[in-house]
Amino acid sequence: FPTEIKKIACIGAGYVGGPTMAVIAQQCPHIQVTVVDINPQRIADWNDEDLSKLPVYEPGLPEVVAEARGRNLFFSTDVEGAIRESEMIFISVNTPTKTYGVGKGMAADLKYVELCARQIAEVATSNKIVVEKSTLPVRTAQAIRTILDSSSINGDTGASNKKAQFAVLSNPEFLAEGTAITDLLHADRVLIGSEDSEGGKQAEQALANIYANWIPREQIITTRIWSSELSKLTANAFLAQRISSINSISALCERTGADVDEVARAIGMDSRIGSKFLKSSVGFGGSCFQKDILNLVYLCRHFNLPEVADYWEQVVTLNDYQKHRFAKQIIDSLFNTVSGKKISFLGWAFKKDTNDTRESAAIYVADELLQDRAEIHVYDPKVKAEQIYADLEYLQANRRNTTQENGQLSSEEIRQLVNVHQSPFDATQNAHAIAVLTEWDEFKTYDWQKIYDGMLKPAFIFDGRNILDREALKAIGFELTSIGKG
Ligand code: UDX
Ligand code: UDX
Ligand code: ADP
Repeated sequence: FPTEIKKIACIGAGYVGGPTMAVIAQQCPHIQVTVVDINPQRIADWNDEDLSKLPVYEPGLPEVVAEARGRNLFFSTDVEGAIRESEMIFISVNTPTKTYGVGKGMAADLKYVELCARQIAEVATSNKIVVEKSTLPVRTAQAIRTILDSSSINGDTGASNKKAQFAVLSNPEFLAEGTAITDLLHADRVLIGSEDSEGGKQAEQALANIYANWIPREQIITTRIWSSELSKLTANAFLAQRISSINSISALCERTGADVDEVARAIGMDSRIGSKFLKSSVGFGGSCFQKDILNLVYLCRHFNLPEVADYWEQVVTLNDYQKHRFAKQIIDSLFNTVSGKKISFLGWAFKKDTNDTRESAAIYVADELLQDRAEIHVYDPKVKAEQIYADLEYLQANRRNTTQENGQLSSEEIRQLVNVHQSPFDATQNAHAIAVLTEWDEFKTYDWQKIYDGMLKPAFIFDGRNILDREALKAIGFELTSIGKG
């Protein structure tokens, strides 16, 4: 395998593939980067002259795309062409939790990854370095390797046609959405796992040389391939665990009169603990945390480690509890029913500065309130109405926790009960209560007196992100409830 790569392909133009390839292209003008996707609309949006139409909302991304697109960064639907042309292929397709069959609700659905591997094996006429970028369960690299090897054997004669050789690398992504560009440019570390062979080492070198264009060598670490895969799951499990840990304490603070933000500050100054990821909230969301922990749990059960599985599963259980607690508090405060009442949601995305809504706490809180027949009015600066309806419909079909007694809502009921607005003032007009679900900065700067004047009294606010000024809102007359403030 060559150690100086000139042509890269990336399969999957989503939240990971798009920004990652844009930054590689920007930092390596000598490398041609082609991002392909089977979704033609996605590719058209990536190619749109109007950079506000990019399919992924990410601060700083339009500038990077503007610099590299058309120079050495290309977006295309020609998956086969890109595979044939390139020396290195990143697999960056989605790996959601399985919604059917064996491992339903737990295991990762690898069908998209498998399809990619099969397509690469079929189309390749020269040697390829295949890089797994999607979050994957441990030992997926082995599965990819098996597909790549067996597909190059002729089905009729059993003879190997040896048209191409493959190296498989694991290169997990650690970027967080909303800060993807800075995370990519100033990564704490880049992790590359490789197979223990001469080809594996050459491939590892080739990928390290690409990152070395902007990441210091000592921050590019190499491991055996399974350590790399497991590190990704472990990193996300640890991060999510911190949030569930502080959220568990928030419940205790509410009962005792302590303040969770004060507790977080006090423990965070212990350098062994550290201050990051201790922000108590309505619960973590995003495409990675829950999925990766459930993967880890599934893996532990598979290897007959039930105690370890139960330990990590509790992080997800606590997160479900936190979302449920928030919804229940709204219902309890509104005199035990929200039926027919107007509840305004500020924010729908799973965190600020992204238009991604996967596993957002807002979806689960909305679902619980809708079970009680609340009328929900949503305002989010970046999320489109159709996405909100799609999220609620998807949840009806794929509830993970089947012991929940929640009933199914039809699409008609959802569209009847949920309204999406273009302004926070429209969304809160005549509302009984406001719930803050995402920590968008703009929420802090609103004219809250004006919002108060438009609401029914008593005017309730449930701040699921602890971002609002408590004293100021109480002075206006709001009934304010925050997370973990006893
Ligand atoms: C602990 C707290 O660190 C200290 O802040 C508090 O005031 C008292 O309790 P101590 O029990 O003296 O202090 O020692 P500590 O260094 O925390 O270690 C506790 C145990 O954990 C030891 O058995 C140690 O070997 C073990 N440990 C610690 C590990 O197994 N792995 C580690 O990474 C760290
Ligand atoms: C995460 C990891 O951080 C990243 O390294 C990995 O590559 C992908 O998964 P992401 O899901 O994009 O990134 O966002 P992150 O910033 O980790 O936030 C996840 C969720 O936790 C959000 O819902 C966020 O609001 C919540 N969160 C985060 C808290 O509730 N409290 C915190 O202190 C931090
Ligand atoms: P992530 O957050 O992991 O980037 P996304 O869902 O945002 O996930 O992006 C994954 C992208 O991969 C989607 O745009 C999807 O259309 C694309 N994709 C999935 N399977 C294939 C495939 N076999 N060939 C090309 N693109 C694919």
